[in-house]
Amino acid sequence: MQRTYMDHSATTPVHPDVVKEMLTVLTDNFGNPSSIHGFGRSAREAVEQARSQVADLIGAKSEEIIFTSGGTEADNLAIIGAAYAHRDRGRHLITSKIEHHAVLDTFKFLERQGFEVSFLPVDQYGQVSPELFKEAIRDDTILVSLMHANNEVGTIQPIAEIGRMTRERGILFHTDAVQTVGRIPVDVSSLGVDMLSLSAHKFYGPKGIGALYLRRRVKIQPLVHGGGQERKWRSGTENVPGIVGLGKAAELARDEMPQRNAKLTELGRTLAQRITSEIPDSILTGHPEQRIPGHVSACFAGVEGESMLIRLDMVGFAASSGSACTSGALEPSHVLLALGLSHEVAHGSLRLSLGKDNTMEDVDRLMQVLPEIVSGLRAMSPLYKK
Ligand SMILES: Cc1ncc(COP(=O)(O)O)c(C=O)c1O
Repeated sequence: MQRTYMDHSATTPVHPDVVKEMLTVLTDNFGNPSSIHGFGRSAREAVEQARSQVADLIGAKSEEIIFTSGGTEADNLAIIGAAYAHRDRGRHLITSKIEHHAVLDTFKFLERQGFEVSFLPVDQYGQVSPELFKEAIRDDTILVSLMHANNEVGTIQPIAEIGRMTRERGILFHTDAVQTVGRIPVDVSSLGVDMLSLSAHKFYGPKGIGALYLRRRVKIQPLVHGGGQERKWRSGTENVPGIVGLGKAAELARDEMPQRNAKLTELGRTLAQRITSEIPDSILTGHPEQRIPGHVSACFAGVEGESMLIRLDMVGFAASSGSACTSGALEPSHVLLALGLSHEVAHGSLRLSLGKDNTMEDVDRLMQVLPEIVSGLRAMSPLYKK
């Protein structure tokens, strides 16, 4: 059976050129970057080259990049680190209801530590309103964290507009850009952010490696203490293979982004159109235009999401329902509920996130099976009425 991967927002395959680069530091160039000898110096060189490759991808300076174990750690470091370092100035924090759990649960942790958090609502497309945001700001607001694009519905937030407001008021601004870095152009200066999280495995790099962009002179408190690596921001011997893989993936993303996105935009549009025209009672979720290329999310009333995924998997298609991290839970996704969808509709969600190697033929083959899977599940559902 032919297997077709359409779950690139969960993770991506590692690019062969990335594997090749990683092998060099897993074999001959195996040194510890902190060692004084030639092996160490050579490993240090590889780490610093990767740092500049990552910086180049997001318009930052090399010294503003801190390597972490992934997006989750970068989010924790930014949010807890900034809240603790600035708690003397105030205890109010702002985020949104549709953040990834790496952000949401970190804010819930801070609430238990005595911070006050405003969780902003979003509109039907999943965007935070800049007006509502302005109203939420208080004299004691010290930190804002809003995701650049949502992992479940693909909506891109008006980060630059919010960034102008936080900058005017001297409030620290973090964005979780795990779903956008390496996939759409991201520039930290135009976004007006002080901190930004990214993760290699979302753009053809390895898992377990990411980075936090920390604007020069912004102070945060480190979470991991020890040998003082990463200029004391994040101790622990560097994950050199991961870092080198992240650097190469960043370079490839920068070079190939226009071609990758021209194709993904076309595939995504075609798939979205075909879903709404060929499957009755289907609704596309997320913003119609402000979205990640190739990311298509939809809900089908009267369908149980997990059953749809299993049936798709049985015929060779890998997709997801809500986010991979929350699938398995019986509660419908917090993101879809925040968009105003009913529990019943939110239960029938499907996320198809295409990647650079998907083709129009993949889309055609998917559309040969998806309408039948949906109608088959509806026929068994006591809830679905035509
Ligand atoms: C928006 C968002 N933030 C954070 C993460 C977590 O990143 P990582 O898997 O690198 O820890 C993910 C992963 O799915 C994500 O989509």
